[in-house]
Amino acid sequence: MPRLPMIAPSLLSADFARLAEETARITGADWLHFDVMDAHFVPNLTFGLPVMQAVQAVSPVPLDCHLMIENPERWAPGYAEAGARNVTVHAEACADPRAVARDIRAAGALAGLAIKPGTPLEDYLDVLPDFDTLLVMSVEPGFGGQSFIADVLAKVRTARRLVDTGELTLIVEIDGGINADTIEQAAEAGVDMFVAGSAVYGADDPATAIAALQEQAAAAMQG
Ligand code: DX5
Ligand code: ZN
Repeated sequence: MPRLPMIAPSLLSADFARLAEETARITGADWLHFDVMDAHFVPNLTFGLPVMQAVQAVSPVPLDCHLMIENPERWAPGYAEAGARNVTVHAEACADPRAVARDIRAAGALAGLAIKPGTPLEDYLDVLPDFDTLLVMSVEPGFGGQSFIADVLAKVRTARRLVDTGELTLIVEIDGGINADTIEQAAEAGVDMFVAGSAVYGADDPATAIAALQEQAAAAMQG
């Protein structure tokens, strides 16, 4: 069966003064990516649980929470309890990734593990059976609008192979610098879920941008 590409626009590139309207512009997306930053794990600071709950109440699509925070074991289950479809924590920030995954799943969400561009996938192969999604960062986490780091596609290829052979069951997600120039190489490497911030919310019409990215990725997956 051919894989179908999924698109998760990142709210980080939306107009923060109009969050409800901004969610209404991406009804054709699969998930809405919600970047939580704490000014410690990453230099930047964005939004947290109260804003997530407000967005969750109006979003037409499920929320994909990407926690770029220290001490994720303390906060991750709250996002799951609030109704997130997926809650992703950073491998580099977790003392015990399996325990965090267990808590996220127990609270009703899918559990995701994110790895920064320089973090080897091999270091986490043993914990991945406890996760539902793998988020391969293709920029250094912290800011939208950065350039795609193509070297991380080696990790995507490895993850794809492990999923296709049945060794792991994961949604393979990529985040950072995804746009019309980069999505095809990511699709060919084996990504299922494409996060796109500036490429969606920076476009004149986010709905058109989502459809175009989806189509480009689907063609690249088949080719
Ligand atoms: C970066 C965030 C990304 C960001 C992507 O730390 O995790 O989700 O919003 O933005 P673009 O698509 O503009 O690179
Ligand atoms: Zn993100």
